[in-house]
Formats: sequence, structure tokens, C-alpha cells
Amino acid sequence: MISIDRQRLKSLMAREQTRFVDDRPRSKALFERARGSLLGGVPMNWMVKWAGAFPPFAQEARGAHLLDVDGHRYVDFCLGDTGAMTGHSPEATVSAVGQQVSRGITTMLPLEDAVWVGEELQRRFGLPYWQFTLTATDANRFSIRLARQITGRPKILVFNWCYHGSVDETFITLADGVTKPRSGNIGPPVDPSQTTRVVEFNDLEGLERGLTPRDVACILAEPVMTNVGIVHPEPGFHRDLRQLARKFGTLLIIDETHTICAGPGGATREWGLDPDMLVIGKTIGGGIPVGTYGFTEEIAERITASIPLEDSDVGGIGGTLAGYALSMTAVRATLTGVLTDEAFARMTRLAVRWTEGVEGIIAGRQVPWHVTRLGCRAEYHFMPDPPRDGAEQAAAGDPELERFLHLYAMNRRILMTPFHNMALMCPATTEADVDRHTQVFASAVDELFG
Ligand SMILES: Cc1ncc(COP(=O)(O)O)c(C=O)c1O
Repeated sequence: MISIDRQRLKSLMAREQTRFVDDRPRSKALFERARGSLLGGVPMNWMVKWAGAFPPFAQEARGAHLLDVDGHRYVDFCLGDTGAMTGHSPEATVSAVGQQVSRGITTMLPLEDAVWVGEELQRRFGLPYWQFTLTATDANRFSIRLARQITGRPKILVFNWCYHGSVDETFITLADGVTKPRSGNIGPPVDPSQTTRVVEFNDLEGLERGLTPRDVACILAEPVMTNVGIVHPEPGFHRDLRQLARKFGTLLIIDETHTICAGPGGATREWGLDPDMLVIGKTIGGGIPVGTYGFTEEIAERITASIPLEDSDVGGIGGTLAGYALSMTAVRATLTGVLTDEAFARMTRLAVRWTEGVEGIIAGRQVPWHVTRLGCRAEYHFMPDPPRDGAEQAAAGDPELERFLHLYAMNRRILMTPFHNMALMCPATTEADVDRHTQVFASAVDELFG
């Protein structure tokens, strides 16, 4: 097995930064102008994480491709970090949303589309009742609030290195058995150890210990961890997670926001999971803001019994535009015409091709890395074997190397998400797009290892 020469990495990085800047005079000028009115020159803080000296400014995006203001056309495997897993501006969504825009964007009254969407979510995920938000973050926050309300318990439990959006309770980490606020937790209202227990993914004993005091309202979990990198559950993990939650009277909330990549009904449908509540957002609106949370008959009854009519517009859950007309129309069109069974089958085949391509390069050059895949999402990791939990995955992180690979790819017209080594396929991705990534990855590895 070979290792990385850090000096070589630094000089390659410097070369790629120069090329990036030289190739993008328009983006550079826009970025310099933006610094006069936008904090850090970007509309949202995390955009500073793009690997170049500044983010490329987008001109337009269609299907699996994105054009920047300097005329570079990228194959987009980032796809809005799942927000555009439908492909950019999918025709069915654009057409339905366009019509709804001229018929009323927000009305404070339900549309028939909302009923259709509730019925379709029932069919896909198996849960009978649904509510809507504008983001998956809100859907998680509201689910947690409702879980506290109906169980009367104060705490939640999450898995180490999880990410569920900007939900205060989840920015906690576990290091050598001690919980502490996760680095980057900006202005927390309270120390998250007051609100949250945290255990390692796949650690059923730790989970049982965490639930034993019977003060945990809910477990909030991705069925497969995706945000620290893909970490798969071990066989039997989900069965035991379900049983332990039930044994201790804790509700199980499954967050499918990213794991919808597993199939049309996410991992819940693929593996027959049985959550009390389920959250999803991002891609189901084809790019129009929407989040949703569903729950069982029993939870629905407990919620209804605990919220008097007069209080239904008051505390902790809500949002003026939550469930608004445009988002309901967008979800209907996206689930009908874009995120179909056929599209998932095709996208998954492409992710298999992507995985095999990258695996071939890794094995051929004896690089100590590996690739994981979940449905139409695939990712390479800087460690030889799949991690068991978030801590193992986080320990193998290598920001310098990751930045180099992303920049190298961007300079050769490939976009990877700035937060992972992750590639998503959309219905418009082609085999040629996938193969282009494989070639670029091969040449990056060759340059890196000499
Ligand atoms: C698993 C998961 N849940 C929820 C969210 C929050 O989504 P949003 O930022 O759209 O609110 C994210 C965001 O990346 C996520 O990865």
C-alpha cells in the first residue's frame, strides 16, 4: 500500500489553485464585488467551503449539468447536496410550478395537491399522517418537539457525528466516552448535553444504556449515516434499534432526507423499517423548498389529544409558508414525473458504474481507500475498510486531501459536494458523465501518488 507525500500534495494544490483562479475571471470579479455586501462574499456561510479560492458563480443548471459564468460546463455530482437529486429544473416540476405561480403562490388554505401528496407519501413510506415545513431541519425540529410533548420526556438521543440540519439538540459529540458540544456549534442556547444523549452508530449496548433512564423522548437517526460519510448499519441493527426504542417507550424518528437515494420510499421501504415518525425534505420538491414529517396512527392520536384548537397556531412548530401552495404542487409533480421507480432504477445502475470505476482505480494503484454506495449515492473514503461508526469515519477525514481532489475535479469540469467525497446520480446523468469522473479521478490519483 502507498501513502501520500504531503509536500507533493501541497505543490499540486498550489498549481490547481492558480489554474482555478486563472480560468475564472468573471467568478473572481463577482466574488470581489460580493465581498462588499455579503458576509465572506457568499449568500450563505457554508459556501466558503468550496475548494477554490472562491466559489464558481453559476449561470444556469439543467439536468445533470451546470454552467458557470466563465463558460465552464460541469457534470454535477453534487446536485445541490440532494436538493437537486431530481436533476436541475426537471421538466415536470418546472411546468407544474410555473402554472401554480400564476394561480396563487401562497394562500393559507390547503390545495388538493396537499391531499394527493399525503396519499403518495403514505404509499411510499407506509406512515398514515403527514405535515409540512419548508426545510428538513424544521421537520426534524418539529418532530422532536412533538415527541417531547406527547411523551413528557426531556431528552433526545442521536448517533455520534450525525447531521440532521441546524437542529440545536444534535450538535453534540462523543470523545473517549465524554459528550461535548460539537466544534462549530454556533451560539448554542444551552449545552447540548442537557438536552441530548449521544451514542455510536451500530453500538446497541451504548444505545440500551442511553435509553435505560427512560427520559429519552425520541431517537433521531438516519437509517444509514450519510453526513460524516456513508456508514452502513450492521445486520440486525435496525431490528434491535426498533425493539429497544419500543422497550423503553422512546419514539423512533427516521430521517430520510439523504437516504431517499436508496429508492422511491427511502431505506424505510427498501428494508421494511417501522419508524414512529419519518422526516424528509430537500429533493422531494425538485428544488422548491419543502420538508415533511409523517407519523403513525397512534402518534397522530396522541398529538391531536395534546394540542387544543386554540393553541394550534402557537408554540414551537409552524411557519407561515409551511405547507404552502407552491411546495405542494412541486412535490406532487416531482413524485409523479421525476422521482419515479424507473428513474431510481436507472440512477442506481449509474451509481454502481461510478462505484466500480472508482474501485478499479483504487485497487489498480493499491491506494488504501474504499468506496461505499447507497442506491444512487456513492462515495470514496480515505481508509481501506468500511467504518463501523461515525467516530471511525471522522478519524479518517483528511480535509487537505479532500480539498485537493475536489479542486482537481472542478478544474476538469466535475462538481463534487463541498462537504463529502460524494457523488449523486440524477435521472439525467449519463454513462459518459460517470466515465468522465472515473478518468479524472484516475489522473488525480496518478498525480498524487506519482
Ligand atoms: C439527514 C439530513 N437531515 C436534515 C437535513 C437538513 O436539511 P435542510 O438543510 O434542507 O433543512 C440535512 C441537511 O443536509 C440532512 O443531511
